[in-house]
Amino acid sequence: MDVKVFDNKDQASEAAFEFIKAGLANGATTLGLATGSTPIPLYKHMTDSDLDFSNITSVNLDEYVGLAPTNDQSYRYFMNEHLFNLKPFKETFVPDGLNKDAEAETKRYDQVIADHPIDIQLLGLGQNGHIGFNEPGSDFNGGTQKVHLTQSTIDANARFFEKEADVPTYAYSMGIGSIMKSKKILLLAFGENKADAIQKMVEGKPTEDVPASALQNHADVTIMIDKAAASKLS
Ligand code: F6R
Repeated sequence: MDVKVFDNKDQASEAAFEFIKAGLANGATTLGLATGSTPIPLYKHMTDSDLDFSNITSVNLDEYVGLAPTNDQSYRYFMNEHLFNLKPFKETFVPDGLNKDAEAETKRYDQVIADHPIDIQLLGLGQNGHIGFNEPGSDFNGGTQKVHLTQSTIDANARFFEKEADVPTYAYSMGIGSIMKSKKILLLAFGENKADAIQKMVEGKPTEDVPASALQNHADVTIMIDKAAASKLS
């Protein structure tokens, strides 16, 4: 793991943008993308840039079960607002939160990933060490799954909803096994509330209790964090 520590999230986000830009210049055509607060400054750099994404495909990590693309809390809506409406991509994939048939949806999304091998996978990090919505205990080799979100994740995401009861309790998520097949992985994490998860991910033994620790087994992972997120590293 190549861990890069920056003074603040703005500097880290600028470096992340340069990382994506260099990846595209080197021939990357498929980006794995994340939602949440962490990648917003990076997406702003991307939309402000003169980079052309019209030949680029994106495959998102996850989506809440039960939310329509028009729901402003859905991840499809988030991606449209922050990136796709401002920078047209060739094709964009997000799991279909309205598909009630979990077996069909997880199979369909695994096929999407197989058909569009990911060159650079962007990840955020949950306070409990989750990547995508792969919560503690997730299989390191798993494919797309319907996940029951943990209380910690529901609490963390409640800030985006009017009230906690509105936070969906299930999501479809790309599995850790699929994330691990990406050629390169770039994980971003900012703030003190990520420091524990960063410490366990980087310095702990790989364990399913800390999903992000699986990344220790990947050959090309770059971690860009601010000082606060790095504060528990030895
Ligand atoms: C979102 C995702 C999640 C988030 C994580 C951190 O697509 O996959 O793993 O990256 O929950 O969220 P933020 O960035 O809001 O702290």
